[in-house]
Amino acid sequence: MNYTKNVHGDNMIPKVTICNGCCCGRVEAGNKPVPVGELKQTWKERNLGNKVKLSSIYCLGPCSMNNVALLTFDDERIWLGKLDDKIHYDAIVEWGEQISKNPKDSDLPEILKPLRFIPN
Ligand code: FES
Repeated sequence: MNYTKNVHGDNMIPKVTICNGCCCGRVEAGNKPVPVGELKQTWKERNLGNKVKLSSIYCLGPCSMNNVALLTFDDERIWLGKLDDKIHYDAIVEWGEQISKNPKDSDLPEILKPLRFIPN
């Protein structure tokens, strides 16, 4: 992987952005929970933060696809929607571990492939 440089000339590492906004994670509106705390804890325990950045954001935009996550690396963006089970978030951790060990291995775990979408 060639780390792309940002406007400051810094290398950009792969990034996982978890949406936890007006729709994603709003269980009071009938949507599925987003385990942000668990994910951050797991990221820390597995020491992934130096190689793959994890962050949560209020709203990524495509709310109708809740719950949403965005994986970015090189010049690629992978949107994931309809995340509705712990197993999906576990697979995001798996992807983070995989790309942290081998930056050329950005293949999605099988369980995430059907959740990929392209936002309008
Ligand atoms: S709240 Fe997640 S995309 Fe808007």
